[in-house]
Amino acid sequence: MIEDDARTHILPHQHKLGGVIHALHDLMRVYGYIHEEHLPIVADVFNNSVAEVRGLVSFYEDFKTHIPAHTTIRVCQAEACQAVGSRQLTKELETFYRTELGHRGKDVELEAVYCLGLCASGPAIQFNDRLIAKASIEKLRVPG
Ligand code: FES
Repeated sequence: MIEDDARTHILPHQHKLGGVIHALHDLMRVYGYIHEEHLPIVADVFNNSVAEVRGLVSFYEDFKTHIPAHTTIRVCQAEACQAVGSRQLTKELETFYRTELGHRGKDVELEAVYCLGLCASGPAIQFNDRLIAKASIEKLRVPG
């Protein structure tokens, strides 16, 4: 049952500082996203309203509310990366993967991110868990 299973991942964080965020991260780790049914359980455990929990989930872009695509590509849109071509790279990725930034294609989701800590080596992207500096469409065609 989803509620019992979710509670086992939420309860260990109940008395921690910032416990709601820790619980949401645990749900992401276990399920891959925050299911709508998780919100009232988190709210109940932390004595918050469902609206407060939903607000947190929607505020932090790392929290997904849908089953993630097989591949998520986060493209840095911050100034340093823009100065070295992240907008052009974004267009190329949109064409190559047939989707738009902020949307999910068949197997790939393109997301905007605002700094990946690779500012001196932009444009920077995150390909699932892998950070790629000086990214180009050619580097993504043969990841490795
Ligand atoms: S501005 Fe793109 S990684 Fe920092």
